[in-house]
Amino acid sequence: MAVINMEEAKTQVDRKGFLDVALDPALDLFAEIQRLKKVKNAVLLAHYYQDADIQDVADFIGDSLGLAQEAARTKADIIVFAGVHFMAETAKILNPDKKVLLPDLKAGCSLADSAPTERFRTFREEHPDHLVISYINCTAEVKALSDIICTSSNAEKIIESLPPEQKIIFAPDKNLGAYLKKRTGRDMLLWNGACIVHEIFSVKKIAELKTRHSQAKFIAHPECEEPVLRMADFIGSTTALLKYTQTSTAKEFIVGTESGILHQMIRSSPDKIFIPAPPENNCACNDCPYMKLNTLEKLYSCMEYEIPEIRMPAELLEKARKPIDRMLEISRRYGL
Ligand code: 13P
Ligand code: SF4
Repeated sequence: MAVINMEEAKTQVDRKGFLDVALDPALDLFAEIQRLKKVKNAVLLAHYYQDADIQDVADFIGDSLGLAQEAARTKADIIVFAGVHFMAETAKILNPDKKVLLPDLKAGCSLADSAPTERFRTFREEHPDHLVISYINCTAEVKALSDIICTSSNAEKIIESLPPEQKIIFAPDKNLGAYLKKRTGRDMLLWNGACIVHEIFSVKKIAELKTRHSQAKFIAHPECEEPVLRMADFIGSTTALLKYTQTSTAKEFIVGTESGILHQMIRSSPDKIFIPAPPENNCACNDCPYMKLNTLEKLYSCMEYEIPEIRMPAELLEKARKPIDRMLEISRRYGL
């Protein structure tokens, strides 16, 4: 372990978003991360969109709902979150007295960025008779302005749990919102946000792939745009997509979501073929640039020196907790 000046390290984290220390190239990062977990009683939670090596060293891998539920039940002293900022914030809101670490504070989310607090507050005030359901992909401030939080795993059930006459604002994902309007028949007011990763898929290229792989099932995340979802054989959250590939008798799948999930799909069904759905350009745009900011090196440094840490004012922690607790309670009721 290099000796570092913690004041300088904190200034660096403020500037860069992560701790940039020179590591001994001979260091076995896997072994070191496992050691630090034990010594510090830390739990490592990772989203399916993380790099394969981070998934392999994690204690729990899940979608946004699974990760929030795991964060709510952990007995560890430190939560290390290999995911994006809003996920680590959620873990902190659920565990105000624990230390929550995120390898790179700049691991954001285009959906969370689409809903700035003051614009969202005004929108909410313009519709005082509406109940606000916010997708978990939003900032703590927006959560604090919401009535119920949801994820792609439980959104449908949460909407259906409300009386039919209840007016609803759904934010910030317009694509997930439009999909849910169709599924539930509820006329919700939608915020105009989108995920840059799930918006990139090419209908034309997917159609070509489907022709070439006529036996393949096309599976998609509901953050995708409507024309893409219309082509899908199955639509679901990251966990639901993974389960579908495990239980389906199909042997080939075209996967319409972030590429990180393919690691678990291949691991659990090594005899099946998984083809990432092609984006509009020839780029690797179905890699989430925010999720991929986390690396094994940053993960090790953040566990060793316990920065960057998620911190929030007590009042915000308290206000943002209520709609998350409501989501967890409704999910429990439906066995989700
Ligand atoms: P889920 O984890 O709910 O599938 O959402 C996917 C996502 O885009 C997370 O940022
Ligand atoms: Fe946000 Fe999309 Fe990245 Fe998920 S995949 S963190 S929704 S930008």
